[in-house]
Amino acid sequence: MTALNTTARIAVIGAGAMGAGIAQVAAQAGHPVLLLDNRPGAAAQAIEGIDRQLGKRVENGKLSAQSRDATIARLHAVQDIDALADCALIIEAIVENLEVKRALFRQLEGICSPQCILASNTSSLSITGIAAQLEHPQRLLGLHFFNPVQLMKLVEVVRTDKTDAAVFEAARAFGVACGKTAIACKDTPGFVVNRLLVPYMSQALLMLERGDASAEDIDIAMKLGTGYPMGPIELTDYVGLDTTLSILEGWVKAHPNEPAFTIPKILASKVAEKKLGRKTGEGFYKWQGDKKA
Ligand code: NAI
Repeated sequence: MTALNTTARIAVIGAGAMGAGIAQVAAQAGHPVLLLDNRPGAAAQAIEGIDRQLGKRVENGKLSAQSRDATIARLHAVQDIDALADCALIIEAIVENLEVKRALFRQLEGICSPQCILASNTSSLSITGIAAQLEHPQRLLGLHFFNPVQLMKLVEVVRTDKTDAAVFEAARAFGVACGKTAIACKDTPGFVVNRLLVPYMSQALLMLERGDASAEDIDIAMKLGTGYPMGPIELTDYVGLDTTLSILEGWVKAHPNEPAFTIPKILASKVAEKKLGRKTGEGFYKWQGDKKA
């Protein structure tokens, strides 16, 4: 296993918010990128979206038309998973479901060479769990990018007990080539960022539930008291109450004795009412588009 050179072919599976961003930064780093989604037309639409976004940067004088064109020329929407056969690195950014991810990686093992590095962008699932049924689990690791990928500077590079050292190093170098600062982490729930952030959000909701302080005051306190750009309750609305609940449910199930993983009743009841935060227009706050109403 050797380091990836900048012309190595990369594939991204899942052309949603994260997959499109990862494909963009990989293409900007010089890699030819195949983008695959099981929703017909989704990969092509994602590339059109990247083109529009880069077009605005060209209009604002922040990017040359030549760079935009070169990036777009490196992005290729594909429909058939067999097209990924000669990729050096495949990054999965599909739905957050262990069984679906496992099935995809098993399928990829039948298509790719054993040298191909396999990476998951999962936020909350165990990388060891995703790799469990693979023939070559040593070539799988976590490459956890942040949303929006093109702006956020961090990538967490997550190794399991089985991840090959050269695979880890090649993936870390890829993250750096994509313009990110890469940090190394073991396969611990939520890696570094979400392991700290999700329990913090959950503690803020428990404070609200107990009536210790209002949502507004908790958010103001954390913004002005720590310099965070957003308070924890607003952040929960922003991320999505269903997403936050599903992460916590998975962790509570897998780690029932970890006191940091608790599910506030107030969170479960809002989700049951379909008040999911920004995306439904109401969670702990009311929202109009991307702004609190
Ligand atoms: P999304 O829902 O925006 O996009 C997922 C895409 O994957 C969809 O276009 C869907 O059609 C496609 N897809 C689903 N199953 C597929 C399959 N079997 N084969 C091919 N394509 C398939 O999701 P998003 O937000 O981009 O998240 C993707 C992954 O990234 C998840 O694992 C999530 O936990 C992780 N993540 C999400 C972050 C976020 O802020 N949204 C941040 C960091 C990681």
